Amino acid sequence: MSTTVKPYQEMQSGKREQVELMFNNISPKYDLLNKVLSLGIDKIWRKKSLNLLKSNQPKVILDVATGTADLAIEAAGRLKPASIIGIDIAEEMLQIGREKIRAKKLDQIITLQRGDSEKINFPDNTFDAVVVSFGVRNFEHLEIGLGEIYRVLKPGGNIMVLEFSKPQKAPFKQVYQFYFKNILPVIGKLVSKDTAAYTYLPDSVNAFPDGKAFCSILEKLGFGIEHYKPFTFGVCTAYVGKK
Ligand SMILES: C[S@@+](CC[C@H](N)C(=O)[O-])C[C@H]1O[C@@H](n2cnc3c(N)ncnc32)[C@H](O)[C@@H]1O
Repeated sequence: MSTTVKPYQEMQSGKREQVELMFNNISPKYDLLNKVLSLGIDKIWRKKSLNLLKSNQPKVILDVATGTADLAIEAAGRLKPASIIGIDIAEEMLQIGREKIRAKKLDQIITLQRGDSEKINFPDNTFDAVVVSFGVRNFEHLEIGLGEIYRVLKPGGNIMVLEFSKPQKAPFKQVYQFYFKNILPVIGKLVSKDTAAYTYLPDSVNAFPDGKAFCSILEKLGFGIEHYKPFTFGVCTAYVGKK
């Protein structure tokens, strides 16, 4: 499962430490690579996934594994909440996020702070919504992180998870797998100069419980499933659960 797939297999350290190191390493190229490798579609996925929360009008939002804050920035415009807090373990990703927030004059709404999904530094029942894009796959202990999200959500509040999934239908499945396993790691390595990061990406997606398996985990932790929506032939999926 996801706990066994680590970015730097040859290192002894745990997944959390390696993930932090990897995202700090690739942080200067992270946004560029997202755009190039997804052909710009990542922005559309974030928009569509946030639209699933629109009717709930969440006022106080937590963005877990916020990285360079793209989801938080999109949520500020799309959901018009009173405040968004973004947390992430990789400080250098957060630094880039803070610059983007300042440039967009969103610093009255969005605040970023260093924090771990497995020990969220907020009291029970704090947030109307918790959102995570392309983050849960990287948690060292998936269920601990999701359990923490449940704890900090208000009763009736929503979790929205956007994560890569595995396309099922031929011929797109085969074409995509070829791209994901053979082309994406080469471009990722050339641009980021990190030998492991873009091999870890397809490996971690393969090991991740997507679709119905992920819904079952959410249900086991107490969430009711409100939406389960694959995008772009199932390249990624948005899941919305309710506490
Ligand atoms: C692929 S990036 C996603 C960033 C952003 N949400 C986006 O959509 O671009 C994954 C992020 O998850 C963060 N992360 C991984 N494990 C984490 C944890 N346990 N707690 C908080 N952040 C974590 C990484 O540091 C990284 O910034």
